[in-house]
Amino acid sequence: MSDEGERLTELAKRRGFFLQSANAYGGVSGFYTYGPQGAALKDNVEDAWRDRYVTREGHMEISAPDVMPEAVFEASGHLDGFDDMIIECPECGESHRADHLVEDNTDIEEAESISTDEIADLIADHDLVCPTCGTELAGEPVDDFNLMFETNIGPGSSSPGYLRPETAQGIFVEFPQLAEYARNQLPFGVAQIGKAYRNEISPRKSLIRVREFTQAELEHFIDPETDEPPLERVEDVTVPLYSVAEQESEDGSVQERTIREAVDEGIIGDEWVAFYLGLSKAWYERIGVDMDRFRYRQHLPGELAHYAADCWDAESELGGDWVEITGFAYRGDYDLKKHESHSGEDYTVFKQYDEPVTVERPTVDPDMSVLGPEFGGAAGDIGAELESLVERDPDAFDGDTVTVVVDGEEYTVDIEATGYSVEEVTESGEHIRPHVVEPSFGVGRLVYTVLAHAHTTDEVDGEERSYLALPPEVAPTTVGVFPLMDKDGLGERAREVASDLRGAGLEVTYDDSGAIGRRYRRQDEVGTPFCVTVDYETQEDGTVTVRERDTTAQQRVAIDDLGETLTALRDGDLSFDEL
Ligand code: GAP
Repeated sequence: MSDEGERLTELAKRRGFFLQSANAYGGVSGFYTYGPQGAALKDNVEDAWRDRYVTREGHMEISAPDVMPEAVFEASGHLDGFDDMIIECPECGESHRADHLVEDNTDIEEAESISTDEIADLIADHDLVCPTCGTELAGEPVDDFNLMFETNIGPGSSSPGYLRPETAQGIFVEFPQLAEYARNQLPFGVAQIGKAYRNEISPRKSLIRVREFTQAELEHFIDPETDEPPLERVEDVTVPLYSVAEQESEDGSVQERTIREAVDEGIIGDEWVAFYLGLSKAWYERIGVDMDRFRYRQHLPGELAHYAADCWDAESELGGDWVEITGFAYRGDYDLKKHESHSGEDYTVFKQYDEPVTVERPTVDPDMSVLGPEFGGAAGDIGAELESLVERDPDAFDGDTVTVVVDGEEYTVDIEATGYSVEEVTESGEHIRPHVVEPSFGVGRLVYTVLAHAHTTDEVDGEERSYLALPPEVAPTTVGVFPLMDKDGLGERAREVASDLRGAGLEVTYDDSGAIGRRYRRQDEVGTPFCVTVDYETQEDGTVTVRERDTTAQQRVAIDDLGETLTALRDGDLSFDEL
């Protein structure tokens, strides 16, 4: 683990951000418990996400089950293809993620996009060894390992279920009903914040690769023919882009472009994806991601998910590595089509035209009194195939005969017997299957990034100070309230102040132990942006000292104005200098 990772893990455990769970039983890799500080920070990040991607965009939010029946994941493709590459050590039996071994020990990046055979060759060519026991891994097979956690629904094993590997499927599977809630009006978005589970081969880097984690996903359903993103809202936003071309070029680098430039130059292929990259940049800044340690990286062709037409990851730099914190994908109609064909339900929406339109519609009406005697038992299937063919390829009916294939056998039917005609019909609308644009955020990775990027050291009163420069909106606690000393009524007054501030809806902690300087340091270390001290002057004039974390500057504020002032400071409606 990097120095940054070690420092963060130590702080996280000591001060209650996160810790490996079930430590009393030796712990189990890939599962973490968020402590009081971490749970509050995570909640605040989720609230900021909800505010940005649900409330302010006018989307819906749902909460689907974590366990879903097998059929859902047969349809989504996860049962067949949600695999990582595994290699097992012949000596100690430890399993490792084969592509990560290659990435960690060679100059190769994004090895996930390489085939299993090539990874096996690279392991042999580079003489890679088992990280646990040092045994040579050359010649060992590299296999696919499915990441789904399986369970049984109810007693017995007749009804297998799976823990969802992404929250998205809980949205896709309910699409027909969700479209009703949206009154069948495209575009509309459905969001979900919830747990996802992946049986990672080798969980690592604390919260970064775990087996149970929280995702915040938005599925934005659009009509690909007519719906355009409101690009004008973000077109002037400058974004750091690491495109495929730059990644493949020898001296390629991150390029700064406005969203408009990136679309016009064809760097970002899809305008909806461009919209979400532009919208998200300000949000990352809002929750405290350091923009000097941030980039958007385009997926390499071999890395693209089977369903994705264009995909970019938001990445943050952590301990010298670039880590994906969000995936932005254009998923087309892949998911809805799959659920439609597997379930037999209708996953389209009916799109009403402004005016009814009259169209020519080729149809057939097979004459079974001719087909029956001529083709016997195959006549029914031939009739059905003619009906399907006229929709797929009306030109096939241009000649005197039509040829159809049923069960691999060709049948030629006289055009008269097909009942082919072209009718004029008036239509009020059409059924369309929406396409999906998906920003998918990993909340744990965001929390980890925000903590790592917030960590700052400086010198105060000749001593080194370490603090978390968290934005007040996401800091676990907004205000620390202290009495200068717990005597002469200062303690009672400070407890009253703390209680009033809680009543005003602020996250408050009360601390009366130790020297005041130590209490400040304790709050600095967990990122509390403001501290309030009740002192002897308070008794005289009803004011308290308010101290800002980052500058350590202090101002006196009347107790009567305290709730309003601190709320305005937290919400960014007032700066400390303006006090
Ligand atoms: N629905 C699309 C989807 O799930 P993904 O790129 O596999 O896409 C989205 O995951 C986000 O979930 C990632 O950007 C990452 O932040 C987070 N994530 C994925 N696997 C994770 C893991 N094992 N541990 C922690 N976070 C993970």
